[in-house]
Amino acid sequence: MEVLRVSNVIPEARNIATVMIEPKDIARFKALRPGQFVMVWVPGVDEVPMSVSFLGGSPFSLGMTVQDIGEATHALCSLEKGDLIGIRGPYGKGFRFPRSPEGWMVIGVSGGVGTASTILAMEEASRRGLRTVELVGARDNGSLLFRGRWERSSSDVRYITDDGSSGRQGFVTDLLREAIGPLTSDERRRTMVLTCGPEPMLVSVRDLLKGSGIGCQFSLERFMKCGIGVCDSCSLSGHRVCQDGPVFALSQVLRMEEMGMFHRDRSGRKVPLKECVR
Ligand SMILES: Cc1cc2nc3c(=O)[nH]c(=O)nc-3n(C[C@H](O)[C@H](O)[C@H](O)COP(=O)(O)OP(=O)(O)OC[C@H]3O[C@@H](n4cnc5c(N)ncnc54)[C@H](O)[C@@H]3O)c2cc1C
Ligand code: FES
Repeated sequence: MEVLRVSNVIPEARNIATVMIEPKDIARFKALRPGQFVMVWVPGVDEVPMSVSFLGGSPFSLGMTVQDIGEATHALCSLEKGDLIGIRGPYGKGFRFPRSPEGWMVIGVSGGVGTASTILAMEEASRRGLRTVELVGARDNGSLLFRGRWERSSSDVRYITDDGSSGRQGFVTDLLREAIGPLTSDERRRTMVLTCGPEPMLVSVRDLLKGSGIGCQFSLERFMKCGIGVCDSCSLSGHRVCQDGPVFALSQVLRMEEMGMFHRDRSGRKVPLKECVR
């Protein structure tokens, strides 16, 4: 574990902030694949998994965009420049991209703080010369994240909010349905969806893409303790999300009978998804 001082804390939206650090082991983090995660230790509080939402700059920095929903995330959002945190990782499997950009389209489907996982991936897709479409959903205008970064990385960015205060009113899956509707079967074969967001949203994406001929990669979340495949607390239908994921292909997600139905709590007990806030 690297123990580092926080270099900045950037307020992003209501109850959401990006915590920046400057890792010493730059080579390790330069090799990170978008979608991989780190385990973040807040001294005296807890250690929790976080996606890497920013990587680069000068001095080389790593950012984690955190939604305040409990003890550890509240402590992370309350950090100030100079405070100490510990970082392990990067861990898990990240998003994969088509080998050649020729003829391919990548559609990002991002909901809420799930954008913290997709933003880096969609920026990477643009850098690789892939045609990108960014579909970004949030509860309301005040919760929409990374507007500037989406618009710098793609010429086709579409927003939607639950209350219509930004973009259209509706769910991000409405935008996905419209985006894929007109595609021919040949175009579908060369379309890849990358998605992260609340689990009910991911279930809708799964159902929409099942049998569509379009590939999809899902970034999934489960309660994590070790982050390295040892404790089994992140178990999801026989997969360890920390090691086999957190990014899974549509074909894997279609076989996960617990997806959208059950989570595991801190003690490992299987609990209905509706008992979790996410
Ligand atoms: C791979 C991965 C990447 C993540 N990336 C981010 C990120 O970029 N930004 C961010 O804000 N959060 C992210 N999370 C979720 C974050 O780790 C949890 O919100 C955090 O652990 C909650 O800790 P807490 O002490 O604040 O809340 P707790 O008090 O532990 O929990 C508050 C509520 O959230 C639920 N919860 C806690 N952890 C999870 C989980 N892992 N999955 C589903 N429900 C959970 C609990 O059941 C409880 O209802 C990620 C999770 C994973 C597994
Ligand atoms: S968090 Fe321990 S096995 Fe995944």
